[in-house]
Amino acid sequence: MAIRKVAKGVYEIGVQHWDRRLFDELIPLPEGTSYNSYIIFGEKKTAIIDSVDPKKAHILLENLKNLKVKKVDYIVSNHAEQDHSGSIPELLELFPNAKVVTNQKAKNFLIDLLHIEEDRFIIIKEEDKIDLGGKTLTFYMTPWVHWPETMSTYLIEDEILFTCDFFGSHLATSNLFSADDEVVYEAAKRYYAEIMMPFRVAIRKNLKKVREINPQIIAPSHGPVYKNPDFIISAYEDWTNDVVKNEVVIAFISMHGSTEIIAERLYNSLVNMELEVKYYNLAKADVGQYAMSLVEAATLVVASPTVLGGIHPQAAFTVSLTGALRPKLKYVGILGSFGWGGRMVDQVKELLKGINAEFLEPVLIKGMPGEEDLKKIDEYAKLIYEKHKSLGLI
Ligand code: FEO
Repeated sequence: MAIRKVAKGVYEIGVQHWDRRLFDELIPLPEGTSYNSYIIFGEKKTAIIDSVDPKKAHILLENLKNLKVKKVDYIVSNHAEQDHSGSIPELLELFPNAKVVTNQKAKNFLIDLLHIEEDRFIIIKEEDKIDLGGKTLTFYMTPWVHWPETMSTYLIEDEILFTCDFFGSHLATSNLFSADDEVVYEAAKRYYAEIMMPFRVAIRKNLKKVREINPQIIAPSHGPVYKNPDFIISAYEDWTNDVVKNEVVIAFISMHGSTEIIAERLYNSLVNMELEVKYYNLAKADVGQYAMSLVEAATLVVASPTVLGGIHPQAAFTVSLTGALRPKLKYVGILGSFGWGGRMVDQVKELLKGINAEFLEPVLIKGMPGEEDLKKIDEYAKLIYEKHKSLGLI
């Protein structure tokens, strides 16, 4: 695999996992992912920043061999999740004098997850420094991006901030540096939606810290490196603030067509009023795409038939994920069809109870919708329009 030069004495030695298609057995990876690992050669000491997923450890070791690395003094672990920490045990075996440099919380996780020996750690705190000889590392705690122990490492002389998951994107690419184009923006937004969105309040604090550090390069451990950090910092500032856009997400599922008629009618009514609408059939939707559309939308409308006494199980999965991702929605609508009753509305509300949004009065239609029913859906669209207007979005 490839070794890519970030700056003089700084190389990316990780892995592009082109054909990985699922993360956490949950998140689709349409463009694969990468586990970036960095090596920094000082005049006296050598440090590695983050490792790679253990399934790809052999590539990291091969890169070290090709670089003829005989000695590593420090292995910095910015984040204990195994896609970055999982190859640290192999590195420790290969370099018996190396120490793992991390914070106390991360150390505890690394011991739990990887059984690393207690005496292999050096514990650092905010703004502690390690001198490699002409290259100095300093550490900033950036918690909850997306675990409690996450931190970033700053290489002072080269003004590079290594942020691990923070600012990352699930994107396998041979290009080391971001082209700051739509492809990178979309991949980073998808990553934010799936991984970071529940922590947007904590992330805002970390963004302020990054602005103060003012790095010239941001080097995450997934996806390309940013030579223009403002591109990704500004995007994160937009995604994490409280401002929503004039967008409605319709998430529906239908067994015999009744709920689809309702969803389609709502879509048409909203579009006729010039609202932007994202429309997902949950039987077929890419949940990553769906999550992305929730990043800035003002309103989500869930439409489901009543099946087995409640919400369709496939819709329940997506609604449950939505509750866990906690998007900054302002309004949630519930529509549906039923044959003889059920608890669909209560279930949706329960699954979304973590979201700080106003629930619009649900509309449930018995059997196949008739003309009068569809007029109710037009009224629902008007209600959403008025709500958006009240927010100043129209
Ligand atoms: Fe890329 Fe949280 O691990």
